[in-house]
Amino acid sequence: MATMSAVEDFDYVVFGATGDLTMRKLLPALYHRFRDKQISERCRIIGAARSQLSHEEFRERAHKALRRFVKPDALEEGLIASFLPMIFFASVNGAEADSTWDNLTGLFDDASAGKIRVFYLATSPELYGAICGNLKQQSLITEQARVVLEKPIGHDLDSARRINDEVGAFFDEKKIFRIDHYLGKETVQNLIALRFANPVFERLWDSDAIDHVQITAAETVGVEGRGDYYDKSGALRDMIQNHLLQVLCLVAMEPPGSLDADNLRNEKLKVLRALKPITAHDVPHVAVRGQYGRGRIGSKDGGEIVPAYLEELGEGKQSDTETFVALKAEVHSWRWGKVPFYLRSGKRLPSKVSEIVVQFRETPWSIFPTSLEPNRLIIRLQPEEGIQLSLMNKVPGGDGMALRPANIDVSFEKAFSTRYPDAYERLLMDTVRGDPVLFMRRDEVEAAWSWVEPILKAWESKTGSLHHYAAGSWGPEAANALIQSTGHGWHEEKA
Ligand code: BG6
Repeated sequence: MATMSAVEDFDYVVFGATGDLTMRKLLPALYHRFRDKQISERCRIIGAARSQLSHEEFRERAHKALRRFVKPDALEEGLIASFLPMIFFASVNGAEADSTWDNLTGLFDDASAGKIRVFYLATSPELYGAICGNLKQQSLITEQARVVLEKPIGHDLDSARRINDEVGAFFDEKKIFRIDHYLGKETVQNLIALRFANPVFERLWDSDAIDHVQITAAETVGVEGRGDYYDKSGALRDMIQNHLLQVLCLVAMEPPGSLDADNLRNEKLKVLRALKPITAHDVPHVAVRGQYGRGRIGSKDGGEIVPAYLEELGEGKQSDTETFVALKAEVHSWRWGKVPFYLRSGKRLPSKVSEIVVQFRETPWSIFPTSLEPNRLIIRLQPEEGIQLSLMNKVPGGDGMALRPANIDVSFEKAFSTRYPDAYERLLMDTVRGDPVLFMRRDEVEAAWSWVEPILKAWESKTGSLHHYAAGSWGPEAANALIQSTGHGWHEEKA
């Protein structure tokens, strides 16, 4: 049985508290951990935002959010009645050094001075430095204080460095928790177990045995009212620079000396630094960007027609922002040689799926008359979390030796019959415990920006066309051409 020990009492202050992330993810995550008795009624969750709301009004919003985002079987009104009084609100102009801060400081007294204090910044990253400066000014940064930074940290290397410097002026690196929620996903953590607790895989984990790796994060949703943010970001900054590169690191890294946070992060950093640099000249050959047009999504009742990205942005809007990216990366190390790592992420694709496909090399010689499919290890990050290993088998019966692939299939839900917690649950508790292992260190974030930046710059200078794809398709044709150039195909196309 996995253990879940109670954490020390804390005050959790969320800046940007009226936003989508707080309602959709943070409050439900804290509710679940309250339900699991990991946090006590003495803990406080303090929403901070510019809106003028009373504690009661904010609690009403929180209550609505819980009803909407917590699955019905976990919604217990009795428990919610105990949870809501733990929630408070302070109307604060986080980035300004003005008197609105009194609303927040007024909630702290001598009794709370020794408590764990977490400041979660879910605002625009441009405000992180100013908010931290004000926290200092207001003497809110105690020995027990730490800060959590939501991604994206900046929009390029320079801005990431600046933000890291600004926050670093007030918080020691050990007290800074940079969230990449993919690292909180159980299946992403399980990658470490799969690789380093099962020698059967680790012995095969290199360029001798592996032909190529695909990492896909596909979504059916569009920009969901986040157009203002998304249009300045695009899929490369929103998904690849952080989530997909972190997954790539866990797939490609060397075994760390231990599970200690710095050991693990040192190994991830080595992978990021070993990524073959992509020059402006390479971009059209190794990177594909796309933007969705109108199309049909879903299979239920023939699906529904959804608007194009530009229509979602608003009437008359023009934009070159990419909602789809496919990339070919290489990790230049002894282990990986020239093994391609194909990364792909997009919005308005036919299904929501995040997975890693490790394709093994073909047999050097075949004694069978029929063609053989290479073995493939598919690690399903979400949904239907699990692992499949495709193997060639003899078709039973018959006179000859007909072969067909069949899968060894492990569904984690069936194997462990347990609830899959949302990634934020674990991460929020880790910030309280002060355990940084599932968070990004400054050098990792900056190394990831260094690698993607030439692609961003090339696209900004119009190198590499923006391809269009219909919503509900698997992205532009150019993404197929990219992977076909090494004689392969994306996993979904074959399904
Ligand atoms: C977020 C991105 O970090 O991850 C969103 O900003 C994206 O655009 C989301 O939808 C995807 O997360 P998940 O857990 O649903 O794969």
